[in-house]
Amino acid sequence: MTSCPKRVPIPANGVDYRGKVVLAPMVRSGELPSRLLALKYGADLCWGPETIDRAMIGTTRRVNPRNGCIEFTRMPSNSVNKDDAKESVIYRLDPAREKGKLIFQMGTANPELAVQAGKLVAADVNGIDVNSGCPKPFSTSGGMGAALLRTPDKLVSILEALVKEVGEPYQIGISVKIRLLETPELTESLVSRLVRTGITGLTIHCRTTPMRPRERAIRDQLRMIVSTCHNAGVACIMNGDVTSRDEALALMQEYGADGAMIATAAEANSSCFRSEADGGLAPWREVVHEYVKLCIECENRFGNTKYLINMLIPGKDKEFREAKQAKCYTDLCTILQHDDLMPAAQEVDEILGIAHKSTARSKAVENAIANNDTARAAGGVSRSKNTSPATGGIGPIRTNSIPKPMKAETKAESKPAATDVDVSTPAPQPSQNEVAV
Ligand SMILES: Cc1cc2nc3c(=O)[nH]c(=O)nc-3n(C[C@H](O)[C@H](O)[C@H](O)COP(=O)(O)O)c2cc1C
Repeated sequence: MTSCPKRVPIPANGVDYRGKVVLAPMVRSGELPSRLLALKYGADLCWGPETIDRAMIGTTRRVNPRNGCIEFTRMPSNSVNKDDAKESVIYRLDPAREKGKLIFQMGTANPELAVQAGKLVAADVNGIDVNSGCPKPFSTSGGMGAALLRTPDKLVSILEALVKEVGEPYQIGISVKIRLLETPELTESLVSRLVRTGITGLTIHCRTTPMRPRERAIRDQLRMIVSTCHNAGVACIMNGDVTSRDEALALMQEYGADGAMIATAAEANSSCFRSEADGGLAPWREVVHEYVKLCIECENRFGNTKYLINMLIPGKDKEFREAKQAKCYTDLCTILQHDDLMPAAQEVDEILGIAHKSTARSKAVENAIANNDTARAAGGVSRSKNTSPATGGIGPIRTNSIPKPMKAETKAESKPAATDVDVSTPAPQPSQNEVAV
């Protein structure tokens, strides 16, 4: 007689991580438009960017009447002139498009604060994940992130409190994302404790805390971690150097992991979630157009939009340099020749209070307009979206193991150092948060 494998029950409003290829939590790069982009290209689930418990506590939840997004907002606590202070959007989600697919990731070092913050978002998300892997002093000096790997009692108490006081009443899953410890014995001992807290999933980033993002992920502890999770009925998601859906599925098969999580490759081109059978990696122009459209729809803070645009456009491309000069969505759509988005771009510039910036047209915008007009006069340039992808190559991808697109030019481009961020570095909060309408 064969016995059924043990499985922690999946709560009614939660998600089963088994068989899923998911978008990793990424500060800056994991804001709402990026998550919607990943979902469009086939990500099964999305983790939001790490949000610190204290940043969430005290926020007000509201529904944006223009796009239906849920926004958790607050006034900055440190503003000198209260009258001029702009409300900040600490967290934004799309209840329709992210329904059943959103995991809120929290930075915390305190069970009470974790529960307080968790209760604020629990009804709007499908899971809450505790970041126990961020190696940066900002996180670790507050006892959060990778510091929790050294204080397992605290980490266990946070997870148990979240399971009991948030997961159970709201019927969502609680999970944790960790890194490898120095030895398999240490990792096993930690994982064995974590999987007994009532969590439904555990993500293992297959690097140790001191490892740099560019160092190859190490998978020699992975089978042991998967097996420790499975013995307790907890799903295990592998992370680290997974670069496409097809590769994720093959690695899941090879190591027995239930799911796979992609960060850097998705930051460079979210269509990595599309299997080769469905078209594979899309040309960067197509991805950028879709991204800008989503940013406008979500009323994304322009600075954040530009940040990711710089990751998506190949560094040697002329548009890359020109897009860096854009001061608002109207500028950006002019430079990128997204004529179809222009009315919406102008509207969102007004909403965000940045429309005035486009009146002083930057040199880059003038150049782009002049170039387009010259080319148009010669009958050479169409500004419609549909023509652009065919002329494009792929986006900038920073690891050499990432598969090349089937249907596009395959030459990888390098990025200037300024945009080549330390990929494991969440920005301090709430400074990376959105400035609201
Ligand atoms: C821009 C960026 C921001 C990140 N922010 C977070 C974060 O908020 N929380 C977290 O747990 N990990 C964060 N990470 C780490 C990733 O989630 C992931 O664990 C790591 O990049 C390894 O995956 P990869 O090899 O696919 O890049 C971030 C990574 C990047 C590139």
